[in-house]
Amino acid sequence: LASIEVDVSSLEPGMSLTAKWRGKPVFIRNRTPEEVKAAADTPLSDLKDPVARNANLPAEAQATGTDRSAGEGKENWIVMIGSCTHLGCVPLGQAGEYNGWFCPCHGSVYDTAGRIRKGPAPENLPIPPHEFVSDGVVKIG
Ligand code: FES
Repeated sequence: LASIEVDVSSLEPGMSLTAKWRGKPVFIRNRTPEEVKAAADTPLSDLKDPVARNANLPAEAQATGTDRSAGEGKENWIVMIGSCTHLGCVPLGQAGEYNGWFCPCHGSVYDTAGRIRKGPAPENLPIPPHEFVSDGVVKIG
């Protein structure tokens, strides 16, 4: 109940799936090298919310490309709760100005690292506790 294991072995770069954890959607995406690079190349000073909001990391960790990902060596993977930090709608993937996520409710725009870039949402999409228990299986919670 508290944690789930999700088989992501079939996700090639550029593919995503949505799992369900504690009643909420969790986006798991195998990001393309271009998406990883776009996230890594963004200066923290451009971010509306410079905090990682990654439950795997200390609360003060910054929202770098790596610290928004599943970690070093797994920068291609991003695991996030799919609930807009404005009022909780489910954002659409690979949409919006940054080709990350776009919330259709009031127009919040998230980048390829799920960081809020425009619109009313105040925070980056939260990253739940997660770890890869093998190359193709991620445990959430
Ligand atoms: Fe997403 Fe308002 S709920 S922008």
